[in-house]
Amino acid sequence: MAALKVAVVGAGVIGLSTALCIMETCPNCSVTILSEQFSPNTTSDVAAGMLIPHTYPDTPIHVQKQWFKETFTYLFAISNSAEASEAGIHLVSGKVADLWELHGKYDIIVNCAGIGAHQLVGDKKLLPIRGQVLKVHAPWVKNFIRDGDGLTYIYPGIHRITLGGTREKENWTLSPDPGTTKDIFDRCCSLEPSLWGAQDIQVKVGLRPSRQCVRLQREVLSQGGVKLLVVHNYGHGAGGFSVHRGTAKEAAGLVGECIAALQGSSSKAKL
Ligand SMILES: Cc1cc2nc3c(=O)[nH]c(=O)nc-3n(C[C@H](O)[C@H](O)[C@H](O)COP(=O)(O)OP(=O)(O)OC[C@H]3O[C@@H](n4cnc5c(N)ncnc54)[C@H](O)[C@@H]3O)c2cc1C
Ligand SMILES: *[C@@H]1O[C@H](CO)[C@@H](O)[C@H](O)[C@H]1NC(C)=O
Ligand SMILES: *[C@@H]1O[C@H](CO)[C@@H](O)[C@H](O)[C@H]1NC(C)=O
Ligand SMILES: *[C@@H]1O[C@H](CO)[C@@H](O)[C@H](O)[C@H]1NC(C)=O
Repeated sequence: MAALKVAVVGAGVIGLSTALCIMETCPNCSVTILSEQFSPNTTSDVAAGMLIPHTYPDTPIHVQKQWFKETFTYLFAISNSAEASEAGIHLVSGKVADLWELHGKYDIIVNCAGIGAHQLVGDKKLLPIRGQVLKVHAPWVKNFIRDGDGLTYIYPGIHRITLGGTREKENWTLSPDPGTTKDIFDRCCSLEPSLWGAQDIQVKVGLRPSRQCVRLQREVLSQGGVKLLVVHNYGHGAGGFSVHRGTAKEAAGLVGECIAALQGSSSKAKL
């Protein structure tokens, strides 16, 4: 049997980690990542990347705990090593307007389009929560600081510090708002006055793909008797980093179910 062709739509933390998990569970699959934007231009690049248990009201708590735990264990094991391997995975740039465009070219489509899924699959339950942050150079700040409701925060990363932030429901505006930039900077400087000396201030905006539950689901689309196998993995809201490995593993498991179904149907076809 020829190598199965899997297309992952989206190259944020969810698409990349899902592609990696698919390679791990199905080494013979050929995985292509199709995406409109790549790093540094995704929502995932805007995030501070903190592991914070975020709750999805309609996902059972024990499932969320499992996703978080798997992600934590995974990251803890590779902390300080640069292991983001792209071996065996092809990257292709471009916008997918309709999943059916991929029919015939790929056997299984994995939808990791983040907020892009609103349009791509017409999911009206998926809504943006806009977040504006500043990425600054202030290497003397070593510890994170976060105010009571978590709206103002200072999270040091390896290269830069993320200063936040905002949570604006159903706002699709990707351009930075200058008033908000000043407000964030003032709020953070009152928590940590040494930030007045921060250099190279960059402003970033991301749309959190917010949903009552992450959509992790197999779907068989059908058009005039023709079928398209799809696995969805989107809607991670404010917690995509915190659960990415757990949800990627679950999505790879769903891809495995699709493969089993394809192999079952092809052996039936031969009979
Ligand atoms: C300010 C801010 C701070 C955050 N801080 C944290 C944090 O500390 N911890 C945490 O866990 N989470 C945090 N988050 C949330 C986290 O960023 C998201 O949950 C996560 O990035 C979602 O990842 P994703 O891969 O689903 O989406 P994205 O990163 O948006 O990736 C989606 C990909 O799909 C592509 N795409 C979309 N539509 C199409 C299409 N039609 N055709 C082709 N390609 C398409 C895009 O180009 C992109 O590559 C934060 C978010 C923001 C905005
Ligand atoms: C994967 O590919 C190798 C080499 O082509 C082959 O020997 C092996 O049987 C394949 N494994 C599966 C599970 O299809
Ligand atoms: C990110 O976006 C900028 C501005 O549109 C563009 O110049 C750059 O090539 C993009 N980077 C990648 C990796 O796509
Ligand atoms: C969206 O956010 C921008 C920037 O903060 C703001 O200027 C605009 O008024 C907001 N739009 C809506 C519809 O709330």
